[in-house]
Amino acid sequence: MHFQVLSTSLSLALSLLDLGVRAMNVSVPVIPPPSSQPLSSTLISFSIEQDRWPEWTGVQSRNEFTFNALDNYGKLTGKPPALRVGADSEDRTTWSPDVDIIEAMFPLSSAATPYPEASTITVGDGFYELSKFLPSGTVMTWGVNLGANNATNAANMARSIAKAFDTPAVKNAQVTLAMIEIGNEADIFNFTGFRGSDWSVEEYVSEWEANAGPVSQAAGLKKGGVTFQGAAFGTPQFNPREIFALGILDSAPGKLITTISQHRYSITTGSADATLSSFLNKANVRSNLTLWQPDIAATKQRGLRYVIGETGSVAFHGAPGISNTAGAALWVIDYSLQAATLGIDELFFHEGVGYKYNFLQPVSLNRSILDNSPLNPVQPPHVMPSYYAGILVYSLIGTSGSAKIVELSVPDDNVSGYAVYEGSTLKRAVFINMHAWLSSSTGSRPSVHIDLSFIGASGSGAKKAIAKRLVIGHADDIQNLTFAGQSFETADARPDGELVEESVDIGKGVDLLSTEAVLLSF
Ligand SMILES: *[C@@H]1O[C@H](CO)[C@@H](O)[C@H](O)[C@H]1NC(C)=O
Ligand SMILES: *[C@@H]1O[C@H](CO)[C@@H](O)[C@H](O)[C@H]1NC(C)=O
Ligand SMILES: *[C@@H]1O[C@H](CO)[C@@H](O)[C@H](O)[C@H]1NC(C)=O
Ligand SMILES: *[C@@H]1O[C@H](CO)[C@@H](O)[C@H](O)[C@H]1NC(C)=O
Ligand SMILES: *[C@@H]1O[C@H](CO)[C@@H](O)[C@H](O)[C@H]1NC(C)=O
Ligand SMILES: *[C@@H]1O[C@H](CO)[C@@H](O)[C@H](O)[C@H]1NC(C)=O
Ligand SMILES: *[C@@H]1O[C@H](CO)[C@@H](O)[C@H](O)[C@H]1NC(C)=O
Repeated sequence: MHFQVLSTSLSLALSLLDLGVRAMNVSVPVIPPPSSQPLSSTLISFSIEQDRWPEWTGVQSRNEFTFNALDNYGKLTGKPPALRVGADSEDRTTWSPDVDIIEAMFPLSSAATPYPEASTITVGDGFYELSKFLPSGTVMTWGVNLGANNATNAANMARSIAKAFDTPAVKNAQVTLAMIEIGNEADIFNFTGFRGSDWSVEEYVSEWEANAGPVSQAAGLKKGGVTFQGAAFGTPQFNPREIFALGILDSAPGKLITTISQHRYSITTGSADATLSSFLNKANVRSNLTLWQPDIAATKQRGLRYVIGETGSVAFHGAPGISNTAGAALWVIDYSLQAATLGIDELFFHEGVGYKYNFLQPVSLNRSILDNSPLNPVQPPHVMPSYYAGILVYSLIGTSGSAKIVELSVPDDNVSGYAVYEGSTLKRAVFINMHAWLSSSTGSRPSVHIDLSFIGASGSGAKKAIAKRLVIGHADDIQNLTFAGQSFETADARPDGELVEESVDIGKGVDLLSTEAVLLSF
């Protein structure tokens, strides 16, 4: 009898091995460890390229697709994602009393850049007022022009922004202005051509201060009211520690900086050589974030918030076969949650009409985002795979507004895990299997078997959990994902399909396929 049981479990273990199943134990603290970090209700937020802002919001009436896509997220946490609008085109923008909304000139499109940023933009007051079409509760940061180094124009833009947020339409919509950012990626102005090759951080600080004084007066910035987002650097060429040492925070406008922003794309050059399976890499996710630790520490030490104010997988609108894939959704989940464990308050994933790394395309497109080839019929507004990452992460964060996160030690190079607490209680956990299962993969799809052991309080710990899975056909798929059985690939961005929740017996553990993520609620 005894032998019989043993041989059964032995053959079970052997058959699991045959199927490519790797078993592992993961310890989950039942109370939040001291290292746990706050998990913002707007962890996954968006940076919007401002040259096509009216298409995101709608003009005569709101863009229902954008609204619904943001609102789906807001429903999961009680707060819609924050938006930063500006970026590359922020430094090419002039405000004019003679323009209602926008006049923009765009370079020719190409196969490499089907949807280039505008080369010049002129905006009027109506441009900023379109913020009224966002979900109630949206908190915004707007960029103004430092590229021109014209304090009159920067102040004109800021005055128009403040005026928009004071209109009844925007107030009634309960969309608020939190911060103004002056200059996008000013550290690389010598590369983008706004300044000469001898551009220095000293000059930056003095030019920022010279523009920030008039901007702060024009927009009525004050402590406890609308404030500044500082830095917004594109690379480590300038860093927050340098501008702190140069006294930026002691200047009159610098005293109004409440948040420090830095930008990060995991891949900036040589994207032609990168592959999706090399991109889905737990170690690289970590090293792309830990490099900011000295800046995060210096920022927090001064009592300021720290955000990755613009981010994405691959710079210059993303790479085909990486940024637009289902695998990228797994990357977004691990990258965002890893950022939270390092004390990063929010990440602003960059979005432009027709970019490859978008979470959603807000309007119909008549040219391919991958190679600029004509699309006939046009492709209607749609969510892209990374959108599902937001659904999973916001489901993990929940509605408490006070969730905390720790990373779990998962003994696998490309499987990660995190636990989330509310108060002193373990609420949820997520596991992300980043091993790439591609459409070219053959044989049976590998999986891992995770056994949880609760630690920290004897005899406690849930016996059951509810699992919701992010189901992906292949890492290189560009559509057809589901989360908890539901698709968001619908005409109106609202979910379709019955909610599928699995009951997990904690004693038996949970299986996770390659290229899959699972959210457990205890
Ligand atoms: C998991 O833990 C159990 C109990 O301590 C142990 O018997 C088992 O060998 C462990 N499994 C792995 C894969 O380490
Ligand atoms: C600065 O901006 C103002 C307002 O747009 C404009 O009238 C002025 O000509 C600009 N100055 C320079 C030097 O371009
Ligand atoms: C910009 O300045 C940095 C030093 O701050 C230098 O390393 C870099 O080569 C410069 N780039 C250009 C295009 O001048
Ligand atoms: C994790 O992924 C990276 C990138 O694909 C790969 O180099 C590494 O071998 C993977 N590790 C494991 C254990 O599969
Ligand atoms: C960031 O991630 C990319 C893509 O995986 C990798 O090639 C690069 O080496 C990483 N960079 C750092 C600084 O870790
Ligand atoms: C796409 O639409 C734009 C704006 O209506 C138009 O100018 C352009 O010619 C169209 N391109 C194609 C390939 O149909
Ligand atoms: C989508 O996935 C379902 C199963 O999950 C499959 O039957 C269907 O063929 C897939 N469609 C596409 C377009 O990949």
